Amino acid sequence: MQEKKTFYLTTPIYYPSDNLHIGHAYTTVVGDCIARFKRMQGYDVFYLTGTDEHGQKIERVAQEKGMDTIEYVDGIVEQIQNLWDLLLITNTDFIRTTEERHKEVVQKIFQQVYDQGDIYKSEYQGWYCTPCEAFFTERQLKEGKCPDCGREVELLKEESYFFEMSKYAARLLEHIETHPEFIQPESRKNEVVSFIKSGLEDLCVSRTTFKWGIPVPFNPDHVVYVWFDALINYISALGYGDENSERWKYWPCDVHLIGKDILRFHAIIWPIILMAIDVPLPRQIFGHGWLLLEGGKMSKSKGNVVDPVILVEKYGVDAVRYYLLKELSVGQDGYYSEEMLVNRINSDLANDLGNLISRTVAMISRYFDGHIPSPGATQPLDEELRQTANKAYHEATERLEKLDFSNYLYAVMRLVSRANKYIDETEPWKLAKDEQQRERLGTVLYNLMECIRIALIMLHPAMPTLLERANQQTALFSSVEDVDWEAAGTWGMARPGNKVSKGQALFPRIDIKTLEESQMTEEKKEVPAQKAAAQTAEKQEKAESEFITIDEFAKIDLRVAQVIACEKMENADKLLILKVKLGEEERTVVSGIAPWYKPEDLVGKKVILVANLKPTKLRGVLSEGMILAASDPDDKNVEVIMVDEVASGNRVK
Ligand code: MSP
Repeated sequence: MQEKKTFYLTTPIYYPSDNLHIGHAYTTVVGDCIARFKRMQGYDVFYLTGTDEHGQKIERVAQEKGMDTIEYVDGIVEQIQNLWDLLLITNTDFIRTTEERHKEVVQKIFQQVYDQGDIYKSEYQGWYCTPCEAFFTERQLKEGKCPDCGREVELLKEESYFFEMSKYAARLLEHIETHPEFIQPESRKNEVVSFIKSGLEDLCVSRTTFKWGIPVPFNPDHVVYVWFDALINYISALGYGDENSERWKYWPCDVHLIGKDILRFHAIIWPIILMAIDVPLPRQIFGHGWLLLEGGKMSKSKGNVVDPVILVEKYGVDAVRYYLLKELSVGQDGYYSEEMLVNRINSDLANDLGNLISRTVAMISRYFDGHIPSPGATQPLDEELRQTANKAYHEATERLEKLDFSNYLYAVMRLVSRANKYIDETEPWKLAKDEQQRERLGTVLYNLMECIRIALIMLHPAMPTLLERANQQTALFSSVEDVDWEAAGTWGMARPGNKVSKGQALFPRIDIKTLEESQMTEEKKEVPAQKAAAQTAEKQEKAESEFITIDEFAKIDLRVAQVIACEKMENADKLLILKVKLGEEERTVVSGIAPWYKPEDLVGKKVILVANLKPTKLRGVLSEGMILAASDPDDKNVEVIMVDEVASGNRVK
């Protein structure tokens, strides 16, 4: 039997200084989505996560709690493992840096690098940021604080071992230049290259002023610097150095998934350690963006951390994972709010997906006694639907390969919306009234089931319980284990005759008002404003029909888009053809603003794009979105809405 192709994927190993929040959960959920996708494609996947347990920060936290350090971290590690179980993370292994198997490898590597002369003893004098566990020179500080996290730094003066990184700088630069996929997304690469070019200092790789670490093998007064220790987890988990290790076949790693804040450690220190011990470099380091709150970063000290356990209990694992994956544009930061999460659930999952499934199942139950009908002759509308499904499959696959989760889910949900529209266009309830149209009715319902089958397969890496839950109603899959990704690229695999059964809503709608009320404290509930609100409720109800709901508004996906090229359309006075970038994604947009703007006025500018407008051809050019502009009634003045600071790809809301 031919061996399966391997795929090795890692998350950063988390500091067990405290329970993890939704931002940490983001990294691991994203990783799990890739791991599941690759398994569905037939790869032998090794998905590694774990905990980074040494260092001054952890030691201090345990001391503050009056606990033994190991006793303290054991408790947090258990919570972390429970969280991954709750989020249905399918990691192959969980490595703890306090495990013997890891310590041995770290000591072996430290010794080897020392023996070959790349590590030497000297004295460290400089600044240290304990939360980041990172060294800085005076020059690197920002207003005397840590340049990465903005917190206080400490002055250190101690005997240390140094790793001569500069020796490998030229080789690393060459590797980065010749392997464009090595640091992704592309924008992150420049940051690393300029950092290396500015001159690499030798790295301090040991500490003497505390004990919580792996002892330097030839000088136990020193413990190994926590990042030197932690990065090695990626190979200690594979049994580096053990010739009999079955796991070594997974190296080189396919993707080290990390947050953008720890890019330098991964794209500079880690490859240099690997070069020093003559191990091939990983194929890719992917730095994703951050999940922020309106007030900035989530942090324990601000008291604004969002607990993923509570969210999963409230909304279910599928919905939370879906939201996390869809919210951040590739490589960009994104904002978290519970309201946005609820809106996503309501608009995408309850309205679009849930309705598609429940309407289709209900119609098959009503018109065909629950049996999936056989398809008859194909009409052009059906052909278009098939093509949409096929396009969605190719796009979703391509996006996932590029770790562009948001657009992967947009691609799938475009198919879901198209299928809903197909119901409105074909009006099966009318066909059902005419016996002559029985075959047509069967074809329409079969085609809908096909769209559902394809969407369910493609959503499986994101929402792992959905397929099984939906299958209890749709009976599309004979086995919910081992669902093959490629089956989403083939039309016509739904089995006529299988019996569907109506069931509970897969994603019940959440009433945002009830949610807000339940979040209010008793005290707040009594504010006079509420009385006033009750009095005006009647009036509002009358006017309700004139408003759109926040859910309806949330359906419009407005994004910042940067114009990278622009030209006039030939033989069309009013039209400009723009090439815009949304994060990493490129689109073409045709816009009727030529009377007011010259192409050169727009290049480089950041405009607002309606990103989920149905693509349409204008004079033969496919326009993938619409640019927003303000105008007076007679269009005398038309001004394209532009932004300065916010990066392209981000949402407008
Ligand atoms: N222990 C180091 C990693 C060592 S890897 C050899 C570390 N740990 S951490 O617990 O602080 O962070 C782990 C990961 O969580 C990082 O990739 C970080 O970017 C990510 N996140 C922490 N907060 C986050 C958000 N708010 N949003 C997205 N990711 C975030 O660094």
